[in-house]
Amino acid sequence: MNILSNKNVLLGITGSIAAYKAADIASRLKKEGCNVKVVMTKSSELFITETTLESLSGNKVILEDEESNALSNFAHLDLAKWADIILIAPCTANFMNKLANGHGDGLLSTICLAFTKSLFIAPAMNPDMWNNKITQASIEKLDAAEIKMIGPNYGSHACGDIGYGRMTHPEEIIEKIKDNSKTSQLSGCKILITAGPTREPIDPVRFMSNYSSGKMGYEMAIAAKSKGASVELISGPVTLKPIPDIKTTYVETSSEMYDVVKSKVDHYDIFISTAAIADYKPANYSDIKYKKDENNIFIEFTRGIDILQTISKKYENLFTVGFAAETNSLSENTKDKLQKKNLDVIVGNIANHELKLGFESDYNEVIILSNTGSENISLDKKSNIAARILDFIAKEYSSKLELIKKDVK
Ligand SMILES: Cc1cc2nc3c(=O)[nH]c(=O)nc-3n(C[C@H](O)[C@H](O)[C@H](O)COP(=O)(O)O)c2cc1C
Repeated sequence: MNILSNKNVLLGITGSIAAYKAADIASRLKKEGCNVKVVMTKSSELFITETTLESLSGNKVILEDEESNALSNFAHLDLAKWADIILIAPCTANFMNKLANGHGDGLLSTICLAFTKSLFIAPAMNPDMWNNKITQASIEKLDAAEIKMIGPNYGSHACGDIGYGRMTHPEEIIEKIKDNSKTSQLSGCKILITAGPTREPIDPVRFMSNYSSGKMGYEMAIAAKSKGASVELISGPVTLKPIPDIKTTYVETSSEMYDVVKSKVDHYDIFISTAAIADYKPANYSDIKYKKDENNIFIEFTRGIDILQTISKKYENLFTVGFAAETNSLSENTKDKLQKKNLDVIVGNIANHELKLGFESDYNEVIILSNTGSENISLDKKSNIAARILDFIAKEYSSKLELIKKDVK
């Protein structure tokens, strides 16, 4: 799926000679599947027509005159809320300096002032305007305000000068926005992940466990971090190397894992349970080693706590993701668990140690289900699968947030 598909993009155009290139940008954004609204500053109207941009964006262009402000008394706030991304391209020296100083003296600058998501600018100006000390000082302020700057490039200008200040090519602008969207898909989001098997002790030298290697959970943690989330891992006993920069708590038994999850989950937005937690544990732990003799021994196992189900039912607003390793009827069993455990997303895979499927392998093949969508991922490396599962989770999570916001209203 295209990362920009269905994103609401507000394209701001300011009074630069490069404004004609905004037509190409609007049409490329549409091809990416974005919903595009164009807001033009008064001086940009000297450089490109409203009609061109209206045809390419498929929406009425919003001008900075009284008529547009009459769209609603709160047009600036409505548009700031509507947009997922604002791109100012081209962005004049004047507009850059205004943004850097937080001015809101026109519709476009006021929208930017009220905007809390990803704001990109593609500066375009004469090299002397770019090198101007005030413009250069603005770059630091824009950076501190997390306004992302694309370009400008070096080259010759319409005025005959050569130097920095040429607007980056529209195709590259879109690519930069796509790259940024990938790495910031889950920014601000806190994710708790469990991974690996648990061990349930039988006596001082024996335990019951499973073939889980923890690879899928560790790949999920790496992928979540690379998409901008802040991640913490709770790991069962594995032979994998610790992941640098990801806080990890190591546990052994399912009861220990439950205690650690319980103590932390309150601080998280998403809980992803990839751990293969033992469903059963020995009813009685023997302090001394069972002696070998001629007879069979019988060990009673009791049902352990279902950590994921307990957590998902207790925390209604927590976004919960489960993994289901099945040996048969993958689709039905996975769907059942999604409902029964009250999960937002579930990932199912066929696990068979003898066939080298799922557990221990670097590869996997999964189905992802939610209450509204599904995706099949055929055989691929666990690292690639983890990235795709997190794309799915990011989409579902942002839809859930929208629903919660609507409910609150
Ligand atoms: C022909 C012409 C070309 C211009 N090109 C640029 C430009 O490329 N970059 C720039 O920063 N300003 C340029 N300007 C100056 C801006 O249009 C001027 O600073 C204007 O007030 C910017 O308004 P805005 O930032 O609200 O759109 C140009 C002016 C003219 C007359």
